[in-house]
Parts: sequence; structure tokens; C-alpha cells
Amino acid sequence: MIKKTLEEKAFKHLKEKMEEGLLPQWVLTDPDIYELEIEKIFGYSWQFLGHETEIKEPGSYVTRWMVYDPVILLRNRNGEIKAFLNSCTHRGTQLCTADRGNKKTFTCPYHGWSYNLDGDLIGIVAGNKVYGEEMDKSEWGLRPIPKVESYQGMIFGNLDPNAESLEDYLGDMKWYLDILLGRSGGMEVIGLPQRWVAKANWKATTENFAADPYHVQTTHRSTVEMGISPEDPLYAGYGHQVVMKNAHGINVITSKTGKARVPFQGTPDSMWPLFEQHLTPEQLDIQSKVTVFVGGVYPNLSFVSPIHGTEGDLHNYLNFRMWRPLSPEKVEVWCWFLIDKAMPEEYKQAAYKGYLGSFGPSGTLEQDDTETWARIVEVSKGLMMKDKELNYNSVSNYLMGYKRVEPDENFPGPGTAYPTTYIDSIARSMHERWLELISKDLFVKEESR
Ligand code: FES
Ligand code: FE
Repeated sequence: MIKKTLEEKAFKHLKEKMEEGLLPQWVLTDPDIYELEIEKIFGYSWQFLGHETEIKEPGSYVTRWMVYDPVILLRNRNGEIKAFLNSCTHRGTQLCTADRGNKKTFTCPYHGWSYNLDGDLIGIVAGNKVYGEEMDKSEWGLRPIPKVESYQGMIFGNLDPNAESLEDYLGDMKWYLDILLGRSGGMEVIGLPQRWVAKANWKATTENFAADPYHVQTTHRSTVEMGISPEDPLYAGYGHQVVMKNAHGINVITSKTGKARVPFQGTPDSMWPLFEQHLTPEQLDIQSKVTVFVGGVYPNLSFVSPIHGTEGDLHNYLNFRMWRPLSPEKVEVWCWFLIDKAMPEEYKQAAYKGYLGSFGPSGTLEQDDTETWARIVEVSKGLMMKDKELNYNSVSNYLMGYKRVEPDENFPGPGTAYPTTYIDSIARSMHERWLELISKDLFVKEESR
């Protein structure tokens, strides 16, 4: 039925447009497209669940969502990480409603069935009298999330039991995650992830973060007015935009000269020997010069590692955010604050305050972006939107000149690195991946006709 509807919406036409670098605006809010995205993208992609430091002790757990699938992520008695569907096997109610805690067993609030940390059903209220001896409890354990794997402390789940390994999926992105997460020997999450619902489509939010430093000079103009950001409208465009397989991407933003505004993102010099110890010379070179790392792991995890504050009081931290689709027009934002475990305690606290004032739910930068996303959703449903296309196809020799700006062969990191971040390379690779995934069976069907 959905396929038929899509055919009516001229799926072929959509494909042709996207090959030209034109994104029809209606795809942002179309309900049929959304249904396909949930099934075909989120049903088969690695989704971020949390960080290992959120569940440090045996029995520690957090509750999470893989779009509409509720998840209990926990550490069992042997210290292993496990993830189960957070739904009782008896009548299906949500088993655990707390955000986090520490338990030996999970007892259902409906009829009292209880499960251990390996998901086994271990207790049934009045079990022998109600169900008899012959009931095989081993058949009624919690359903495990088909695949759960970690990289650099980041735990991901996949609903597809046949999915490629997380490491293969991340590919070259691991090299950059090694800088972001491994530079000093490990990061930790402070506090619970903050959550809020934004009026936005998940494609627009992920693109905004991973692929679009060009918006910074206008959307976040107030930071220029406050003297936090430079006047130069190209200031967020210096550096490199790197595109990798599976539509992962990172922007390595530097200063105009390519040299550091402050070395190692304003971290205390006591940390620098650790960076030297954990990074390769090429990674160290990038970390020493970068102002902001910002990018994403497709489909819905974004990250930013900025410098915030004013001269003499600068802070760097890592913010991971997961965009959980709730509808074509709504996302639940999950926002984690991470910092080097080895960072001095005072610095951690100051950086956390810096995060709250910038990318936290009430932060200046967050508010700016949220407003824009809501306006995109608001205007994308009209009849005239059916043949309105968005521009990702500049072929000029200027910065946005996709395919005219040559990759920089001298960039030391893996992936295809363009010598500017004001370019649509990541955005286009996200669109290509998106179309490839949602149209997989449709095109097979069409070709076999
Ligand atoms: Fe959980 Fe009945 S629904 S015990
Ligand atoms: Fe922004």
C-alpha cells in the first residue's frame, strides 16, 4: 500500500531530482516517506543507546528508545553489557519506567512477573498454582535487542540480526571517534542525557548538525554580536569537510590560517601529554589545530566538540545527541555531555556550565536552531511544495561547488576531505544513503518489470 502510494508520488522523479542534487521539499514531512524511513532505515541501522560509563556497576541500567522500540540497557552480574526490549512478555506493558537505577531483578508492575539481569523469567506470582509445574519459564524471557556492540565506550544497538558489525559500519569514522573519545584514554558521561521534544523532522536536524556549518554565521549571529564568534562570515567554513561510507561525516573547523586559535581546543596543558600518548602523529596534528569538530554517524547520531567561553576562560567538551523520530514533524532530542575522565574536576564543572549555556535545551545555540527546524516543518506541507526543490547542486567554482571543489589529498585523515566546510558533500551523501535505503525493494520491483 505504501509502495503504491509512493509510486503515485513519482518515486522515479524523486530519484532523478536527487541525482541532480535537488531535494524535493515535500519529503521532509510526508507521512508515507516517514513510515518507510522507520521500517527501512531504523530497522536496519546501528542506533546509539548510551555510553559505558552510564552503566558502570553490575545491575546498573538505563532505559532508552530505538525510535518506537523501548530498551533496557544494563550491565549484568558478570559485567557484560546487555540490552532487552523493555516490554513484559506476559501482557506487554512497559517493564521498567525509571530513567536509570541499579537492580538485581526487574519486576513487572502489572502482574508481578520478574526477570533477572540476563533477561530470564525467574519469578511468576503464584506460579505453580496458576500455571502449573509444566510451564517452561525459559520460553518467556525478555527479548534481547538482536545486536549490541560498543566502540570507544559508545554502545549501539541494531534491530537487524544480520547487520554488519558496528566496526565495519563505522569504517573510517573510527579514526575520528578515536580522537574525539580516545584522545586522553576515555570519556565519561556526566549526568543523565537531557531530553526535549522539538518540532522538527529528523532529517533536517541531523543534516543541520553533521553537514551544515554554513548556517552558523547567520542562525547563530547573536554569538558574533556577543563577541564569542568572529565577524568574518566565512569563519565556520575554514577547515575540512570529510565524507565517509555509509554517510558518516565530520567537519574539522579551524581558523582562517589553519592554525589553532588556542592549542588543543583550550584544554589545560596538563592534558596534552595524554593526547600525545593516545593519538597518532596525524591525529595529534588535527587535534592541536581544530576549533570545532562537528559531524554525525548516520542515521541519527550527531556530535559536536566545540570551544566555548571567552579568552582566558575557554572550555572544550563533547556533546553527543541522538535524534529520535516521533513523527514526520517531531523529534525527541537526547543530549549527552561527555568529558575526558582525566580532566581536572574544576574544568569538568566549568565545561558543563558552558554546555548548558550553549547546546543544552535552554542554551543560546540550541534555541536558534530549534526555531529554524520548526519553521521548515511548518512551511513544507503546502500544495506548492510538491514541486519545490531545495538546492544541494551548486556546480560553481565557489565554496559550495559540489564536485568542482577537489578533495584535499594532503589531509592526513581517512575519507574524502574537501578543503572547506561550506560545501554540501555530507548532505548529499546522507541523501544518497537515505534514498538507497528507503527505495531498496521498490527499485528491485521496478527493474524486474
Ligand atoms: Fe507483566 Fe502481566 S504484563 S506480568
Ligand atoms: Fe546550529
